[in-house]
Amino acid sequence: MQKLVKYEQAIKTKYPEQVVIAIAKDKEGKANPVTLGWTMIASGDPPMMAIAVAKTHYSIKTIRHSKCFTIAFPSAEMADAALFFGSKSGRDTDKFADFDCRAVPAKKVDSVLLADAVANFECSLEWQKPAGDHIIFVGKVVASHINTKPKKRLYTVGTGHKMGSFS
Ligand SMILES: Cc1cc2nc3c(=O)[nH]c(=O)nc-3n(C[C@H](O)[C@H](O)[C@H](O)COP(=O)(O)O)c2cc1C
Repeated sequence: MQKLVKYEQAIKTKYPEQVVIAIAKDKEGKANPVTLGWTMIASGDPPMMAIAVAKTHYSIKTIRHSKCFTIAFPSAEMADAALFFGSKSGRDTDKFADFDCRAVPAKKVDSVLLADAVANFECSLEWQKPAGDHIIFVGKVVASHINTKPKKRLYTVGTGHKMGSFS
């Protein structure tokens, strides 16, 4: 049986939600990481990934400028980094300068990978489309990387950005 409720109540049942960190460079060459829960695999062949970024975020500018981005799957140990990158704006901060998180150059696109992440994907921007207060960016995956050590993925497990992981 189902009960009709407001969207705001029903959507609270979505957890756990995966967390990714998308990174693109601005026109000064500064790499800007942004934490995102609204993301999906959009195509298997060719592999493509989608992210939904709020129209007000600095990341809109960085992705549009560089026409590429990387997507990192943060590990469970990276909860503090995910919260930091998801609470500061690259408009007025250099997040990588202000938070110690190992980044290494990507191989195929002009961005960076997170060295301690579970996996990283390099994406070239294919298309973008507004969806209400967000822009959906879809990127074609041009290179994929996994950590050489076994790592657990980071998830949001409850409201208020409560972080956790699963075995
Ligand atoms: C766990 C978590 C998930 C988030 N998911 C999204 C998301 O899916 N889309 C989005 O636009 N912002 C999301 N945010 C908020 C942005 O990461 C945050 O506003 C960030 O500071 C924007 O940075 P920027 O201005 O440098 O782009 C999330 C934040 C956290 C902590």
